[in-house]
Amino acid sequence: MQNTDEKKLQIAKLIAPEGIGTEELASYIVLPPDNAMGDYALPCFKLAKIYRKSPQAIAEEFKSKILSAPNPFSAVEAVNGYLNFKFDRTETAGKLLSEVLAKGAEYGSGTEGSGKTVCIDYSSINIAKPFHIGHLSSTVIGAALYRMYQKRGYRPVGINHLGDWGTQFGKLIVAYKKWGDDEEIERDGVLALTGIYVKFHEEAETHPELESEARAWFKRIEDGDPEAMRLYKLFKEKTLTEVGKVYSRLGIKFDSYNGEAFYNDKMAPILERLEAQNLITVSDGAKIVDLKEWGMSPCLLVKADGATLYATRDLAAAFYRKKTYDFYKSLYVVAYQQNLHFKQLFKVIELMGESWYKDLVHVPFGMVSLEDGTMSTRKGKVVWLKDVLDRAVEKAGEIIREKNERLPDAAEVAEQVGVGSVVFFALSNNRIKDIVFSYDKVLNFDGETAPYVQYTNARAQSLLKKAGGAEKLTAELKDAPLSAEELKALEGKEGEELVALISRFGETVTDALEKYEPSVVTRYIIDVARSFNRFYLAYRILNAPENERRARIALTYAAHIVLQEGLRLIGVRAPEEM
Ligand code: ARG
Repeated sequence: MQNTDEKKLQIAKLIAPEGIGTEELASYIVLPPDNAMGDYALPCFKLAKIYRKSPQAIAEEFKSKILSAPNPFSAVEAVNGYLNFKFDRTETAGKLLSEVLAKGAEYGSGTEGSGKTVCIDYSSINIAKPFHIGHLSSTVIGAALYRMYQKRGYRPVGINHLGDWGTQFGKLIVAYKKWGDDEEIERDGVLALTGIYVKFHEEAETHPELESEARAWFKRIEDGDPEAMRLYKLFKEKTLTEVGKVYSRLGIKFDSYNGEAFYNDKMAPILERLEAQNLITVSDGAKIVDLKEWGMSPCLLVKADGATLYATRDLAAAFYRKKTYDFYKSLYVVAYQQNLHFKQLFKVIELMGESWYKDLVHVPFGMVSLEDGTMSTRKGKVVWLKDVLDRAVEKAGEIIREKNERLPDAAEVAEQVGVGSVVFFALSNNRIKDIVFSYDKVLNFDGETAPYVQYTNARAQSLLKKAGGAEKLTAELKDAPLSAEELKALEGKEGEELVALISRFGETVTDALEKYEPSVVTRYIIDVARSFNRFYLAYRILNAPENERRARIALTYAAHIVLQEGLRLIGVRAPEEM
């Protein structure tokens, strides 16, 4: 199937007026809000200036030009200064269905990414700190972009830039030595670590000497002291085992867990280079890059006591990724609170004369809070992601049992619906928006939710099963393709709308990637689900007359493929039955 841009170009070439290039003309063409008006429309208002004629006169002229030669349209109309085009519907539907039937889950794939590597830094949790709901967005946005890049032929590299370095590890060791309990840590993992970490801060208020003890322990980690390293590794291992469980429920993997500690020995050469390039200023003993000229506070790289910082490690990481992966783009899926950090980082790399600073992209997102306001980390009222998933699964289970008592594998379906509902929600809105989470909202089977789309997909699948199964069906249709006569069974608003939507799958993914915005795909699959449900209500499918049945079942199959594949891209599983 051609994508929208190609079609626009095709139309522009057929018009080929003088005084304006086809590319430019193509860029004026729009998708009408209601496809009853046509599949494409050319507003002629801007052209009125060039040709010194009324928009309507121009539209009329173009129309006769197009109609004077063979064309792929079933209708061309000039209305109120717009030129509306309808492509031949049966032909379009026929092409689309045979493509989806041939490709199956591969439908919507693309090759524009071939040979291009994209680094995606996402999730990037902090060791010995809770994996809380604040890390949800980074995790699911990054993973969704990862799959979408893959779908369009890129080679994504998923990087979990662990927060595994810093003075907090010294504090944690002090806390462990004083109040740690191995049994408890064995049992409760990170929860136990967070507990003693919080206690450290409480105690340090009245016993400031704890702080210097902590600094001493961190120094021992830096020096590679065996006891310090043993504990450091223990904390790291415990955290990773625990987040690993959450990642596996979310179906997420990383290609690299190189975190901050990994860059310890990779900062010096870069700092030397910055010195050599005269980019470093010493201020109160600290090494900074002055960014006043660009309206930013300085980028602090080395503190007066010689300690390096988060930014120093990110600088080393950016160079390391360029050298290791030779990326086409390098993304950082990190909350908008770090906007300044990334602006500074990218600016420093630009000042160092690296042209690839242009390929570094900060993909920011807003905050997730819970309806009852329990979000604030500082007050210690942290909401653990695991708990949110568990609760959503529990609630999903209740709803599912109510709807279908005899569902086989109900527990597994509840897991898929519960976890899916949380992921789907996090990817439903423009990512920059702050969002408020509510269990009832995300699990509403009639809302813009995972269960709504999952349910619609299951409905399509059950229909296909009753029709003999998708495999048999696709084989049959490949042997005996739908005739023009049979395709007429899809005529009508609902059928045509569904065909038009399904044909936009591939370009929707491209669009989502251009904007680094997975919600484009989420919104799209909601539209497909709604459109399929309208089609399902408006047409007879299984019990349609023989000459109509095949085309409608084929369209049902295409809708199922797009729903299932769309859900997969955003990281939501699709139960066969629910
Ligand atoms: N660990 C950091 C945090 O939780 C996010 C790291 C993001 N990645 C990066 N390369 N800075 O805030």
